[in-house]
Amino acid sequence: MTNTLVINKKIKKFNEKINVDGDKSLSIRWVLFSSLSDGISVGKNLLLSEDVIAAIKAVKQLGIKVNLNKNYCKIYGKGIDGFKYKKNLKINAQNSGTLGRLILGLLVNSPYPIKIIGDKSLSKRDFKRVADPLKKFGAKIILNKKRNLPLVITGSENLKPCTYTESRGSAQCKSTVIFAGMRTEGTTIIKAKKSRNHTELLSKFLKLPISVNKKKNYDLIKISKIKRIKKLNYLIPSDISSSAFFIILTVLSKNSKLVIKNVNINSSRIGIVTILRKMGVRIKFLNQSIYKGEKKADIQVKSPKILKAIDCPQKLNSGAIDEFLVIFLAAAKAKGISKFKNLSELNQKESPRLDWGEKILNKMGVKTVKTKNSIKIYGKPNLEVNKKIIIKNYLKDHRVFMTSVIAALSFGGEWKIYDKDSINTSFPSFLRIINKLNK
Ligand code: S3P
Repeated sequence: MTNTLVINKKIKKFNEKINVDGDKSLSIRWVLFSSLSDGISVGKNLLLSEDVIAAIKAVKQLGIKVNLNKNYCKIYGKGIDGFKYKKNLKINAQNSGTLGRLILGLLVNSPYPIKIIGDKSLSKRDFKRVADPLKKFGAKIILNKKRNLPLVITGSENLKPCTYTESRGSAQCKSTVIFAGMRTEGTTIIKAKKSRNHTELLSKFLKLPISVNKKKNYDLIKISKIKRIKKLNYLIPSDISSSAFFIILTVLSKNSKLVIKNVNINSSRIGIVTILRKMGVRIKFLNQSIYKGEKKADIQVKSPKILKAIDCPQKLNSGAIDEFLVIFLAAAKAKGISKFKNLSELNQKESPRLDWGEKILNKMGVKTVKTKNSIKIYGKPNLEVNKKIIIKNYLKDHRVFMTSVIAALSFGGEWKIYDKDSINTSFPSFLRIINKLNK
C-alpha cells in the first residue's frame, strides 16, 4: 500500500459528532505511574499509538508485566522499587520526547548503565535540557555530541535533592525532574514556568508528597521521596491536540459544525481555544466535568463568518505549543496580519515546526516574515490554492502531515503528502475520522 496521500478536492460542509483518540501526555504518564504502583492498574481508552506502545515496551523491559488488548491495558506494578534493572539494557523511545525524557527521571537509581535511543527525529532533539538537572541529583549521563541521543544514564544510590529552575515552559523537563525528585530523599524544589501540569495533577490525585504553589508567572513545586503509589485505574480522555486538527478544519470550512466528545480541557492545554476565540470563533465546552483531577468536556465549534488576525499573547504559547502548525492555517485565512512571538521552542519539536509552518504557508502562496523565534502571517480571507503542492522530507513529523491534510481539504489545490504512516505516532484514527467527515 502506498504511504503517500493525494488530496485534490476540498471538503464539503459537515455537521458531525466525533471521538478522537486518547490523550498522549496522559497515556504515557499513566503507563509510567502505573508501572511503579502497587497492584494492577487498568487503563481504558489508552492511546494505542507508537509513542505509547514504546512506553509500554520500555516498562516491560524494566520487568513490569503488561497485558494490552483493544479494550484495556493492565499494568502489573511491583511498587516504587519494582523495576528490574538488567545489564546492557537499551530502551528505544522511538519518536517520543515525552517518553525519552520522562523515563530518565525514573532511571536515576539504576545501578547499571542504560542506553536510550530514538528514531532519526528524536536523535536530533535536545536531551541536555534534562541531563543537566538529573546530573545535579547525582545521575551520570553521557550524551551523543554533548546534547543528543543515544545517551547512557547510570543512576546513583546516593541521590541528592536539587533546586531547579525550568525557564522554557517545558512540561517534559519539569516532569522529568519531578520523577527524579520522587526517588530522592529530601525536598526537591522546582521553579517552573507555566506548562502542562498533568504530572502534578496525577501526583496529587495519587496523594503523593508534592505541593504546587501557583505564582503569577511560575509554579513553585516541592517534591519528597515517595514510599508507595496506589494502583491507578484510569479512563483516558480524548486529546485536545488531536482535536485541534478538526477544530481548525471546521473553522476553515463554510457552514459546518462539529462536536468532539469527551476531550481533556485542562487549562494548561486549551491555548488553541483561547486563541481561536480571540480570532472570532465560537467554541463551547458542553457537559463539563472533572475526572481524577482533570477537566473534560465535549467541544462544540462552528465555522465563523469572519476570522480576525491575532497578535498572539505570549502567555498562550505553552498551552498551544503542539497546535501552532494548524493555528497558522487559521491565521492564513484571517483578515489582517497575525503575529506569533517567542516561539523558538517550536523548532525543538519532532521537526523544526516554525520552519515547516512557514514552508507550508509559502507553498500555499501566503506571505510570511519569520525570525528565529517569531512569525508574521499575512492573512488572505479568500485564500484558494490552485497548484500542485508536495510535502515530504519532514522527519515524519505527525503534526506536519496532519496539518498538510487539513490545509489541502480547506484551501484546495493538488496535494501529495508523503509518509502517511506518521499519524501512528500520535493519532492512528486521524484518516478514518477525515473520511467520516469527507463524504
Ligand atoms: C509534552 C510536553 C510538550 C509537548 C509534547 C508533550 C508532555 O513538550 O510538545 O508533545 O507530554 O509533557 P515540551 O515539554 O518539551 O514543551
